[in-house]
Amino acid sequence: MRYASITERLASLGSEKWAVHVEARRRRDRGEPIIELTIGEPDLPPHRSLLEEATRAMHAGRYRYSNGRGEPPVVDALVRKYARRRPDVTSANVLCFPGTQTALFAVMLGLVEKGDAVLVGDPLYATYEGVIRATGAEQVTVPLRPERGFHMQAEDLEKSITPQCRVLLLNTPHNPTGAVLTAAEIAAIGEVCRRHDLWIVCDEVYEELVFSGSFASPFDDPGLAERTIVCSSISKSHAAPGFRSGWAVGPAEFASRLLAVSETMLFGVQPFIADMTAYALNNPIDTSARMRQSYRSRADRIVAGLADAPGLMPIPPEAGMFIVVDVSGTGMSSEAFAWALLDEEQVAVMPGSAFGNGADFVRMSLTVPDEKIDEACRRMSALAGRSGFRKELRA
Ligand SMILES: Cc1ncc(COP(=O)(O)O)c(C=O)c1O
Repeated sequence: MRYASITERLASLGSEKWAVHVEARRRRDRGEPIIELTIGEPDLPPHRSLLEEATRAMHAGRYRYSNGRGEPPVVDALVRKYARRRPDVTSANVLCFPGTQTALFAVMLGLVEKGDAVLVGDPLYATYEGVIRATGAEQVTVPLRPERGFHMQAEDLEKSITPQCRVLLLNTPHNPTGAVLTAAEIAAIGEVCRRHDLWIVCDEVYEELVFSGSFASPFDDPGLAERTIVCSSISKSHAAPGFRSGWAVGPAEFASRLLAVSETMLFGVQPFIADMTAYALNNPIDTSARMRQSYRSRADRIVAGLADAPGLMPIPPEAGMFIVVDVSGTGMSSEAFAWALLDEEQVAVMPGSAFGNGADFVRMSLTVPDEKIDEACRRMSALAGRSGFRKELRA
């Protein structure tokens, strides 16, 4: 049988990125004492009140068809949230989706197609290339330099732009590096986008998990309002990824054009989940503050725990659920290090190669208890010690 080319464009972008994770799960299920630091699943449950609200809404009959924009209570809650950042926001700017991932997919489908190109910082979140290539557009990478803390620099962006580029897919706070762009960096990036008439699609799913300093977004600049679309969700902020509740907020014309795409794809998001999301957005809930505190402290533990590990250099994150560790000083690639760590020390981390240009680092999740973090550091140090290289050799 014949298939459409999307299946080929995406075929090489999927499962092999997760090979270490899948193998680690297989070994864990066989009874091996694997410490799993691969994926970023919050280790707190959602606040009890969210579960109660979803249950209440279900019992109240909130399980009927919805609509492409979103249920009024959650649309209103989103208008309140984003109007605090830019007062001109109304319901005409909002569309609800089942998670950031779906929002990104639909938004990209609405902005680009074959013959276009999308700029994205590299390293990049594992699904971005698929989101871009699914539309038929090409991906154009902008180097995120470790010596600049993986913060996208406006001049690097400008140098990467080709005549086909229509969109910058921005991610702040950034997965995997934890970089948080400053207001000045955003202003400079925004200026480049204005000059080259680029859309800015900003994935802000880690907005609530900034450890220090402040969150900044192109969405907050009225001068960028006509070209900026934010995608986000309650997956990370409220430790609720399985509820699949997210949104896109952008110019009214964009939202009205995308409405038909959304309706064609989804026929709306579940009303009881919409009610729970509205509740989450309207009430003070301490889940993100608790995660912020524990992920920051675990990142510090890793920095301390690997301080003397030969050839390993943890890079403290500014936000998020992960830390990247430069392993190039061991003489191993990220793939080789991750597989050796799994085989010899039963610790599973993501090789940086799953995130584009990440051959020098591995990504560790901060969503496991402190004792496991400490034990993982001991085992990583042991592997690094056997690799025979020394930190000084890298200089
Ligand atoms: C940068 C980034 N964007 C999007 C997502 C997916 O978020 P959601 O659960 O809202 O689809 C993730 C999940 O890990 C992520 O790290």
